[in-house]
Amino acid sequence: MESDLVLEQIDRVFTDGSLALKNINLRLPRGTSLSILGPSGSGKTTLLRIIAGLETPDSGKILFGKNDITHCSPHKRNFGLMFQDFALFPHMNVFNNIAFGLKMKGMKRSGIKARVKEMLTLTGLENFESRQIHELSGGERQRVALARTLAPSPGLVMLDEPLSALDRVLRKRLLADLTHILSRLNITTIFVTHDHTEAFAAGNLLIVMNQGKIVQQGTRNQLVNAPETQWLKDFLSVS
Ligand SMILES: Nc1ncnc2c1ncn2[C@@H]1O[C@H](COP(=O)(O)OP(=O)(O)O)[C@@H](O)[C@H]1O
Ligand SMILES: [Mg+2]
Repeated sequence: MESDLVLEQIDRVFTDGSLALKNINLRLPRGTSLSILGPSGSGKTTLLRIIAGLETPDSGKILFGKNDITHCSPHKRNFGLMFQDFALFPHMNVFNNIAFGLKMKGMKRSGIKARVKEMLTLTGLENFESRQIHELSGGERQRVALARTLAPSPGLVMLDEPLSALDRVLRKRLLADLTHILSRLNITTIFVTHDHTEAFAAGNLLIVMNQGKIVQQGTRNQLVNAPETQWLKDFLSVS
């Protein structure tokens, strides 16, 4: 129960009347790796933003462990969110990018140094701390972004299409890197993608979204062998 993430009847309607999320219900036990799979515009990013606290649902509740965090500010939730473009700070070197969240938390210099070092080791970036962001390859940038996301010891990590800006060969390798690093941590992760190969590789549990709704939830085998709708069957054969 401790640190389970629970979403209860989450709805989100945008002011222009477009419905982004409709009656989202989900329970994630701590340590689950979930993939959210769905076509562009299905509401995946909106759902992540709501979990992160960057957006408020119009109705419904979000619980984390025993706490109702529906109206809790993003930094109080202590969840990590990694974006598609990595959103690294271009004017800071690798060390300062990774240290950023720790400084914001008011951690002491010595603590920051130790934690950044730990993150550099975890992500295979030893000796990269003084590099500038423009001196890094796509794969190295991704690992810096992951290190920065993980440094403040988030209770939950969310990755929004973290590979879609990269070419196909790199994507395959980095997917393996990412899942390998994340699998060593006992942390709940949510991986968002429109690509079912990525979704299957990144998550033990999956939800498929379409038009703001969860179409089906299950394991890879359940989705592939027993899709409940023709839409899902078609989507899995083309996505
Ligand atoms: N701030 C916003 N205002 C109005 N509509 C939005 C806003 N953000 C997203 N939408 C709409 O909500 C739907 C879901 O978007 P999004 O969550 O970004 O989907 P996905 O990440 O699956 O591509 C889309 O139809 C999108 O146009
Ligand atoms: Mg999106």
